[in-house]
Amino acid sequence: MSEIKEAFDFTKRQISISDIYNTSADVVLFDGNCSELLKDIPSSSVDLVITSPPYNLGKKYEKKMSLQAYLKNQEPVIVELVRVLADTGNLCWQVGNYIENGEVFPLDIYFYEIFKRFGLKLRNRIIWRFNHGLHCTKRFSGRYEVILWFSKSDDYIFNIDPVRVPAKYPGKRHFKGPKRGQLSGNPLGKNPSDVWDVVTHDWEDGVWDIPNVKANHPEKTEHPCQFPVELVQRCVLALTQPDGVVFDPYCGVGSTIIAALQHDRKAIAAELDSNYITITRKRIKKFVDGELPLRPLGKPIHEPTGKERVVQLPLEWK
Ligand SMILES: C[S@@+](CC[C@H](N)C(=O)[O-])C[C@H]1O[C@@H](n2cnc3c(N)ncnc32)[C@H](O)[C@@H]1O
Repeated sequence: MSEIKEAFDFTKRQISISDIYNTSADVVLFDGNCSELLKDIPSSSVDLVITSPPYNLGKKYEKKMSLQAYLKNQEPVIVELVRVLADTGNLCWQVGNYIENGEVFPLDIYFYEIFKRFGLKLRNRIIWRFNHGLHCTKRFSGRYEVILWFSKSDDYIFNIDPVRVPAKYPGKRHFKGPKRGQLSGNPLGKNPSDVWDVVTHDWEDGVWDIPNVKANHPEKTEHPCQFPVELVQRCVLALTQPDGVVFDPYCGVGSTIIAALQHDRKAIAAELDSNYITITRKRIKKFVDGELPLRPLGKPIHEPTGKERVVQLPLEWK
């Protein structure tokens, strides 16, 4: 496990929470079905939809149904999500696999077709790889999930600089050609790529680790399927501007809300289970008080210290 910091460094401030749609609230936290909340959200008013929907796994909060019935059920919500998305907006749909009688159905493949049919354009199919999970006996153990990132149009928000990760050799220079001697990489760090990985826990080497939320994760609550706040943070930073509006129709215990507040975005969320709403409220309060245990996002912008391993230039280049 990489380094865990206990609390995010956050200046105490007031957060206004509304339980119905309200444009002046910092957070809209709707206790009920997202289809109901969606009726009140104006068209083209949301900058980022990010969610991990129910996976039809038969968890406490979902009734397991056939795959086809499950997907049909999701369509009316998806139509509405596309409607509320701004023209420059983005949508991130984080899913794993649906398993029936030992057969694997990768949900992203089924969802891709639905979003495409409703006019969204895929920008990345992000593989989020982690190290903990069930040990399978009749197939290889599953150790990744997928985030489908779509935009509504070709004119979409994408800010790479706030989410750059440290390059392994920040001082590397071109060896030949017209740029000979110049730095070959971006001094702010490199693009984190479409594989969000756990190759190494060595932060000095600049490889990020986004573990899934299991028992020893500092963010773990009683919710069985939380996604880590840092996963949402990366999407919030790259895919919205400050003051943007982030919407999670399947809020769970509010991980999206926390990530939005961390970066001065407004949050809208719906959750069917009142118990999870209560936990979300407690998490927001702890966050405002600077007491919410969170894994840190890491170093969003790599600032070279001057001590990096630098490729030595041949004398004649100096
Ligand atoms: C996979 S979990 C999301 C967990 C969340 N990402 C987090 O980090 O806490 C899906 C959540 O959607 C909720 N849910 C299911 N159907 C819903 C609906 N129609 N409207 C609102 N919430 C719903 C479930 O109660 C569950 O908490």
